[in-house]
Amino acid sequence: MPKKIRLGILGGGGDSLIGVLHRVASFINDNYQITGGVFNAQYEESLKFAEEIDIPTNRIYGDLDALIEGELKLPEEERIQVCSVLTPNFLHFPMAKKLLENGFHVICEKPLTTTYEEAKILQDTLTKAKKVFAVTHTYTGYPMVREMRERIKEGELGKIHKVDAQYYQGWINAIIHDKEKRSSVWRLDPKKAGISSCMGDIGVHAFNMIEFTTGLRIQSLLCDFNYLYDDNVMDVDGTVLVRMDKHVKGVIRSSQVATGEENGLSIAIYGEKGAFKWEQENPNYLYKLSDTEPLQVLKPGHAYNSKLSLDGTKLPPGHPEGIFDAMANIYLGVSKAIRGQEYNDGEFPTMLDGVRGLNFIEGTVASHKQGNVWVNLD
Ligand SMILES: NC(=O)c1ccc[n+]([C@@H]2O[C@H](COP(=O)([O-])OP(=O)(O)OC[C@H]3O[C@@H](n4cnc5c(N)ncnc54)[C@H](O)[C@@H]3O)[C@@H](O)[C@H]2O)c1
Repeated sequence: MPKKIRLGILGGGGDSLIGVLHRVASFINDNYQITGGVFNAQYEESLKFAEEIDIPTNRIYGDLDALIEGELKLPEEERIQVCSVLTPNFLHFPMAKKLLENGFHVICEKPLTTTYEEAKILQDTLTKAKKVFAVTHTYTGYPMVREMRERIKEGELGKIHKVDAQYYQGWINAIIHDKEKRSSVWRLDPKKAGISSCMGDIGVHAFNMIEFTTGLRIQSLLCDFNYLYDDNVMDVDGTVLVRMDKHVKGVIRSSQVATGEENGLSIAIYGEKGAFKWEQENPNYLYKLSDTEPLQVLKPGHAYNSKLSLDGTKLPPGHPEGIFDAMANIYLGVSKAIRGQEYNDGEFPTMLDGVRGLNFIEGTVASHKQGNVWVNLD
């Protein structure tokens, strides 16, 4: 058994949403050791949290500069090898860039950066640094999403006709109607979130799911946003028509004001020989639709699944695995890349997925602001 990979965490403190998902995911396959990090902007808070979760406080730093300085003083075999960047969006670019330039591998939350320009700079930085870089589009880690990708790649649906991805949440309803509350949320602050709230935060996952499962690229889009209030500068709802080529078209529907919706991500891919449908809130069921055969329900862990899907399933069929396991699958893929082991390119989303995401986010904003016009992606 190789030694555990030494993991640093930036952001993801006790007050965060996503920190626990990464901590548990890193632990699940027994191949990472959380070694240190900067959990909060406030050093005292970071230290307090490290004590709470029993991480040695001598590797908790005041900021990223101090972490890099401290870690580079240590012998290589003790040094943090990879850092997870789990801060609000505007810190992803400066943090990931510094980490790469100083020889660390990076696992970065989405959206990769706050602008497409930054994303491309980061891509160049990675090319020079030759490190492992993953962007945590968590939902690609589910076994049945992986199964959809592998079966579509094998041609099971034939030529794709239509793609349809939805990501509906309702949580901003509690905030959006009150001007004071609006300013208290970083996702509604363009300086911290980037130019989009809804499309940048969740629409980008739906976009990624379409490209991940079909292996096709979205070439152009037309977007209509809803800001709900004239004095709100951040979209909280949007519908995007997409074209992948002349005969493959579809829609991305995304909302943070879809009343009563929780984490309603779903995807449907329709082809000439059949269709697949999958819902995040019920992730262990992949529906196969056909014009001529009865509806099939595919489930994880069975021998009929692909290697990529089975590699992401730990227990026999009927033992439901969920979001922690999906993220753990991404961490597992990254661990293989760091150790120079063979891995499938579906095991974790890469820098290219992150760059495509920013191309998409900026495309939707440009389309809406120019009067709902078609915009080409690169
Ligand atoms: N992959 C997913 O499905 C998914 C889900 C939720 C959030 N996210 C992404 O994760 C990131 C964080 O989101 P969240 O909801 O956890 O945010 P959050 O506001 O709940 O937590 C952010 C954390 O970063 C810390 N932080 C802020 N500034 C810092 C600094 N300078 N140095 C160190 N730590 C600092 C905060 O103290 C907090 O612990 C965002 O980019 C978001 O888009 C991804």
